[in-house]
Amino acid sequence: MNNLSRQFSIAPMMEWTDRHCRFFHRLLTRRALIYTEMITTGAVLHGDRARLLAYDAAEHPVALQLGGCDPRQLAQCARIAEEFGYDEVNLNIGCPSERVQEGRFGACLMAEPALVGDCVAAMTAAVKLPVTVKCRIGIDDQDPEEALEALTCAVERAGVAALIVHARKAWLEGLSPRENRDIPPLDYARVHRLKAAHPGLCVVLNGGITDVDQVPAHLPPLDGVMMGRAAYQEPWRLLAVDPVLFDETARFASAKAAAEALIPYIERELARGTRLHAVTRHVLGLFRGVPGARAFRRHLATEAIKPTAGAAAFRAALAFIADIDARTVVAA
Ligand SMILES: Cc1cc2nc3c(=O)[nH]c(=O)nc-3n(C[C@H](O)[C@H](O)[C@H](O)COP(=O)(O)O)c2cc1C
Repeated sequence: MNNLSRQFSIAPMMEWTDRHCRFFHRLLTRRALIYTEMITTGAVLHGDRARLLAYDAAEHPVALQLGGCDPRQLAQCARIAEEFGYDEVNLNIGCPSERVQEGRFGACLMAEPALVGDCVAAMTAAVKLPVTVKCRIGIDDQDPEEALEALTCAVERAGVAALIVHARKAWLEGLSPRENRDIPPLDYARVHRLKAAHPGLCVVLNGGITDVDQVPAHLPPLDGVMMGRAAYQEPWRLLAVDPVLFDETARFASAKAAAEALIPYIERELARGTRLHAVTRHVLGLFRGVPGARAFRRHLATEAIKPTAGAAAFRAALAFIADIDARTVVAA
């Protein structure tokens, strides 16, 4: 059950990687492993589960990221993820937000490797799905050599299928979640040392990867690279994933063709009562270096946000975009 390719994945990002975003990203790459936003165990167990966990079959392979620290509840949620047909369940040990700290989960669990081990053990015992963990190299004044090693040993013993490491510390006090994604310095060497010390563990690097071309430099020795902000803010980069990393043609020859392929999805969603903007907000960065990109964004920013906006507004925005070859877009 652990034969998913983790060579390239798109990071879990709250408010960003919702199901519309994931469907759109899947049009740009067949091969990326895609993550949901973090969903807390409380929300899965007591919230509107059908809505929170809904996804489109086209999104596969797709991983559900959970936030929590109670082994029993996490095991229950992993079972639910399996019932919903997710391909992987991931535990968040990297989020430093205050809300998450109050719940005693996310990055603060870097200080409790034994508890994280119990969580992962409970999850792996509950499901056949691969259970993975996404963590930092340490928090606050922890020594990343010791902290990451302790966490790794605990989750490896518990049967983790992969460890995704955001290669910087999180400071739980004094830095906002946003600052915690930029200010603590990246330490890729620490992640490479981790892999050298745990050659049998699937290790995925995350943090600061801005281009698909940077990925092969890490593979091997590492097993994969996860891209976050660059994938979201400049989704055209994802068109390079299948050709550059998997030696396959891209799903669409151009970003414009991929956007056109989104129209039937938009029409389906509008018919279900989804607002146009809920889908098109994820597409704003699709064109760069393409004539008409600014007019495209401007049109969406003014027209697609109207409550009654229909697919015609998206088509009209697309009409500003010149037809251009995918290779040209990727090289822009
Ligand atoms: C808007 C936003 C929301 C995020 N939400 C999550 C989350 O829900 N779970 C998580 O593990 N990381 C979350 N992250 C962190 C990313 O997954 C990733 O670790 C981080 O952005 C570093 O990778 P990058 O430099 O490629 O963006 C979020 C990042 C952003 C920008």
